[in-house]
Amino acid sequence: MSQQVRAVVARSKGAPVSLETIVVPDPGPGEAVVRIEACGVCHTDLHYREGGISDDFPFLLGHEAAGVVEAVGDGVTDVAPGDFVILNWRAVCGQCRACLRGRPWYCFNTHNAEQRMTLTDGTELSPALGIGAFAEKTLVAAGQCTKVDRRASAAAAGLLGCGVMAGIGAALNTGSVGRGDSVAVIGCGGVGAAAVLGSKLAGAARIIAVDIDDRKLDTARRLGATHTVNSKESDAVDAVRDLTGGFGADVVIEAVGRPETYRQAFYARDLAGTVVLVGVPTPEMKLELPLLDVFGRGGTLKSSWYGDCLPSRDFPMLIDLYLQGRLDLDAFVTETIALDEVEKAFERMHNGDVLRSVVLL
Ligand code: APR
Ligand code: ZN
Ligand code: ZN
Repeated sequence: MSQQVRAVVARSKGAPVSLETIVVPDPGPGEAVVRIEACGVCHTDLHYREGGISDDFPFLLGHEAAGVVEAVGDGVTDVAPGDFVILNWRAVCGQCRACLRGRPWYCFNTHNAEQRMTLTDGTELSPALGIGAFAEKTLVAAGQCTKVDRRASAAAAGLLGCGVMAGIGAALNTGSVGRGDSVAVIGCGGVGAAAVLGSKLAGAARIIAVDIDDRKLDTARRLGATHTVNSKESDAVDAVRDLTGGFGADVVIEAVGRPETYRQAFYARDLAGTVVLVGVPTPEMKLELPLLDVFGRGGTLKSSWYGDCLPSRDFPMLIDLYLQGRLDLDAFVTETIALDEVEKAFERMHNGDVLRSVVLL
């Protein structure tokens, strides 16, 4: 029997989101219904609402979530009702060319639930990133559920489902930050601050946080930045070089997603160093760099999709570190809000007032 629950829906391009009753089918083969406990508000939700991702309205928003599995369909063996899970948008297929080469964190064929959730009039919903978790319950592919230790706070745990994982993974997985490295992080919102935290976890000796907002620099310092640079007041590249013996950082993580900050990252990097792009650009943006510098400076230019994470490997490990007091995920939860406050939270996010607003259900 399907169930009806309350959820946040974006009905049309640019219109404020609304609280609606939606219909969640019983899980079919390979699917799970999850009772959501917490879901963070991410830029991607706002991009969906603005029509920046696709035109498949209405969208069921929300995707940085944790909750408890309520029911599973036939053939589901990895999770069971009662499991506390973080939802992911990388349910690895095991069969694509990346998976077959032993690189499942690049899986090119991740899957979502096959059945559709609907409005009460039968209109099919498009769940954000195949999740749709600003809802009391949601339907996902069972592979989108990663079981973690129940003792973690749902608000903090859910954030690993997207932005915070992206930042931590940009440092640990993509950038391979190691003990003693120097790291610069350009843009210290939720994603960049998480990259600072990941760099600290990896044992980086020097972590330089760069932002144009002093509030973000304060948070970055609390999370482990050893130096901060307000790039409105001083040149980011000069400042990073000054703080690294004139050379530049071993790893520079770009967490804004703009050509000018990418160029800063490129030149704030030591010879043979690594640039990681984890900020998400928009379609019209173009990057211009002297090709001779790309060649001559050597090293590695990478992008990081979802922090190149493997949810089954990374989520339980990071939650264990969190429970040991070694990974301050609570620092990302600026405020907790109710389901009907998502629209207001978009505004605060847009103004840069929060790292994350988290809906508690
Ligand atoms: N130089 C340095 N920092 C900048 C600049 C700039 N020119 N422009 C913006 N910033 C800072 C902002 O002050 C803010 O702290 O970048 C940060 C962006 O953070 P958020 O808006 O909180 O975004 P976040 O969730 O961290 O995501 C960062 O990754 O997922 C993508 O779409 C997302 O592209 C965005 C990026
Ligand atoms: Zn695959
Ligand atoms: Zn997100």
